[in-house]
Amino acid sequence: MSAGGQTRGRAKTIRHVGFLRHGGFRWLFVALVLCFGAVWGYQRFEPDPPSGGSWYGYGLGTVAALMILWLAYLGVRKRSITPGTWTLKGWVSAHVYLGMALALIATLHTAFQFGWNLHTLFYGLMLLVIASGLVGVILYVAMPRVLSANRAELTERQMLEQIEALDQQLHEAALPLSSEAAAAVRGSIRNSPIGGLHGRCGTARAVSIIERLRRGPVPDAGLDAVAGLLNKKSGALARARRHARIKAVLQAWLYIHVPATFAVLAAMVAHIVAVFFYA
Ligand code: HEM
Repeated sequence: MSAGGQTRGRAKTIRHVGFLRHGGFRWLFVALVLCFGAVWGYQRFEPDPPSGGSWYGYGLGTVAALMILWLAYLGVRKRSITPGTWTLKGWVSAHVYLGMALALIATLHTAFQFGWNLHTLFYGLMLLVIASGLVGVILYVAMPRVLSANRAELTERQMLEQIEALDQQLHEAALPLSSEAAAAVRGSIRNSPIGGLHGRCGTARAVSIIERLRRGPVPDAGLDAVAGLLNKKSGALARARRHARIKAVLQAWLYIHVPATFAVLAAMVAHIVAVFFYA
């Protein structure tokens, strides 16, 4: 892997870890100010008994609704990276801290009146999105450590290049071998997937065929070298597959975060319609 590639890999890691500290914790500060302001206002202006329908409750509800729309907009923003002050890292930083502040602002808006109704369903869905977001943040922070422990200092590209180099050596080492051994090696080169299912992995098959041939009455002289290369390839494949699996697990939280976002948007429309037209 080139030095440029390594720098790119590191930059990606920094993007994921660095968003929490972005701009000297600017968005944490903004979120805290919002939270303290909301609690102060609640104590000062909320009537007794408190209600989401007071003027202050409506204010909190409006702020929460606008925050939800803005938080959901990250899905669009992520796919249109433009240079400028508002970097994607800045967006994610604001998203995370303001998303957490939303939990408090929306809770104050409910005035703690919960029940088996559409409004509480909306609130619960919103908390689900926020909780899944928190899981995502924890995973993003843990990701570089977990992945690099498995990679043993290799980058993803280096892992693949290592497998390609072993394939090249295997191809040459198999040339003088018997047709059965050569076919097994070809199977390894052609059919050793890294992602998806690898129950019928060509390398695993080749390892057992070459082992059997080595134990035969007149083992081919070149079999030892091929067995050594296949062992190295098995190790490299296992590592690359673990890497792919960890990355897939680390993305799994988005399968809750994103669909639940759509559910929240739908529930928000229903909540607003119910409040204004059926209250
Ligand atoms: C109601 C509140 C929230 C909504 C509607 C929301 C919505 C979204 C959406 C639509 C995306 C883009 C996903 C994609 O297209 O890949 C996203 C990404 C993300 N959200 Fe949230 N989110 C909310 C709250 C939170 C909270 C509270 C956190 C953290 C504590 C959080 C953490 C994240 C992270 C880390 C990403 C990924 C950013 C990246 O890929 O770089 N979200 N969210």
